[in-house]
This record gives sequence, structure tokens and C-alpha cells, in this order.
Amino acid sequence: MEVGRLNLKNPIMLASGILGSHVGSLNRIAKQAGAVVTKSVGLEGREGYKNPCIVTWECGILNAVGLSSPPAKDFARELRSFNKTCPLIVSLFGSNPEEFVELVKIFDFADGFELNLSCPHAKGLGLEVGRDFDLVYEIIRKVKGKTNKPVFAKVSANLDYVELAKVCESAKADGIVAINTVRGMAIDIVSKRPVLSNVSGGVSGKAIKPIALKCVWDIYEEVNIPVIGCGGISNWKDVVEFALAGAKAVQVGSAFYHSYDVIGNILEGLNSYLRINGLRFEDLVGLAHRR
Ligand SMILES: Cc1cc2nc3c(=O)[nH]c(=O)nc-3n(C[C@H](O)[C@H](O)[C@H](O)COP(=O)(O)O)c2cc1C
Repeated sequence: MEVGRLNLKNPIMLASGILGSHVGSLNRIAKQAGAVVTKSVGLEGREGYKNPCIVTWECGILNAVGLSSPPAKDFARELRSFNKTCPLIVSLFGSNPEEFVELVKIFDFADGFELNLSCPHAKGLGLEVGRDFDLVYEIIRKVKGKTNKPVFAKVSANLDYVELAKVCESAKADGIVAINTVRGMAIDIVSKRPVLSNVSGGVSGKAIKPIALKCVWDIYEEVNIPVIGCGGISNWKDVVEFALAGAKAVQVGSAFYHSYDVIGNILEGLNSYLRINGLRFEDLVGLAHRR
């Protein structure tokens, strides 16, 4: 199947940042996944925030890791031993078009790029870039001018994501990834202080599934480039829902913290569902919009 000029063996991808910046984890997941997306990387290394930076609770995860990552050139060296059993999408963060262009040059061996326009907890990066639509347009235009590889823009539910998706489409992005974590926080009732060292962070997992689904639905109605759904997906039924809402592929993140086999399990259920219903995955995409 093809999603935004990327050939995938199945529609289930690993979401960015979930398994850290080690190629070993990517290699393991790549054997089953349609594609893997790396942890977001910028030109300089970032330490990230002090602990606690991840909190779990009954409905999901709250994190403010702070885009901790090795310097781009070190990460590129690490990724050279990627096993190539599926496409490798490198997720990039930066604060201006020049930084993104430089990153694309460093990772010229990638099969595609995902632009992080949506991380909710890093000053001057992610969501703070995504909220400047002129800047987003410039970044995508410059990146597209530097590479023939597919370029996906990852958007946030905390912004006007439909308008942003339209800007990305007009700048010739190959697809929209919706969504990143949603802003949130937790307060410790004993110390009476915010739990995260950064005070607030991003919510992921089951809690955000209905939010992500609505974003996919809305974006699908307004843009013609592929939408890749992400947020709270943990089983094959979730994947079917996202496809019906308009997702041409999906990404799985937090569910990996419960099982490393999540993609294999999803594929088993999804393939049975498709067989029983006599459908291809492509037939599901956007079906719920038809009246
Ligand atoms: C610990 C952690 C780190 C993450 N790091 C990144 C990142 O580096 N870049 C990015 O675009 N998204 C990052 N995300 C967001 C995920 O890729 C995904 O968009 C989000 O978690 C929603 O999907 P989920 O509910 O399946 O986890 C991170 C999420 C978590 C939980």
C-alpha cells in the first residue's frame, strides 16, 4: 500500500519518541511495522527535563521528556545500522527552516521525514513552531526543495489543526500526522505541587483517542493529502475506527508500554476483520463520512 509516496507493507507504524533513540528497538519493531518513526531529533543534543518527566495513570501517560535527544550527527551514525525491514521515517525538530534543511541533509538516507510541529513541552520548538503558520509554510517549502523523500507534518490538537493542515497541504507536504500528545498536567496532593518537573506536559494513550479521532475526521474533510492517525490506539478496533474516520495509516505509541507485540496483535485482528467483511484496508478509509 502507498501512503504519501511511501510504500508500506501494512498501515501500522511506530509513533515517534516511544522507544527512545536506540536503533535496536527500532530494528525489533520494524520487522512487524508498516514503518517506524524515530524519536525527534534536532541539530544539537538536548538533555530534556529532570525527573519526574513521565507519569502514568489509569487512562494513559503524561510526559514532559522535553525532546531529549542526541546530536543529529550522532543519531545519524546510530541509525546507519537500521535493518531496513520497513521504511525509516526520521522525525525532526527545529526552530527555523534552515535547521530543518540541515537536518534533512544529515539524514539523507531516511525513507521519509516527519516534521514535529506539535510537541507541547519544548520552548521555541514543536507546537510553538506549529502555531506560526507562515513559518510552517516556509519550513515545509524549504524542506521539500531539499529532498525528494516524503515529508509528513505532525500537528497538535491544541492548535487550529484544520487550518494548519491546509497550510501544510498548500506547502506540498505529503501527509498529515494527527496528533501529538495533548497538553495536560498532574498535581501531587501530598507535596501540593505539580508532579512533572516541567509543571505541564503532554497526555497520550487511551485518554486522547476520541480527541485524535475527531482531529482525523476534521482534517480528512478539509484536505486531500493522506492523514495518518495517532493517539490512543491500542487494538485493531481502534485502527478500524481511525480508518473509517479517514486515516490512511496509523501510528501506535503509548500502547508499546503495555506490550511490545502490539503491532502483531493489531495486524492479526485487523486482517481477520478485513477477511470476514471481504474488504481491503483501503476500502475502509473515510467510509464513515459517506451519508
Ligand atoms: C514518552 C513519549 C515521548 C514522545 N516523544 C515524541 C517525540 O520525540 N516526537 C513526537 O513527534 N512525538 C513524541 N511523542 C508523541 C507520540 O509520538 C504520539 O504522538 C502520542 O503519544 C500519541 O499517541 P499514543 O496515544 O499512541 O501514545 C512522545 C510520546 C511519549 C509518551
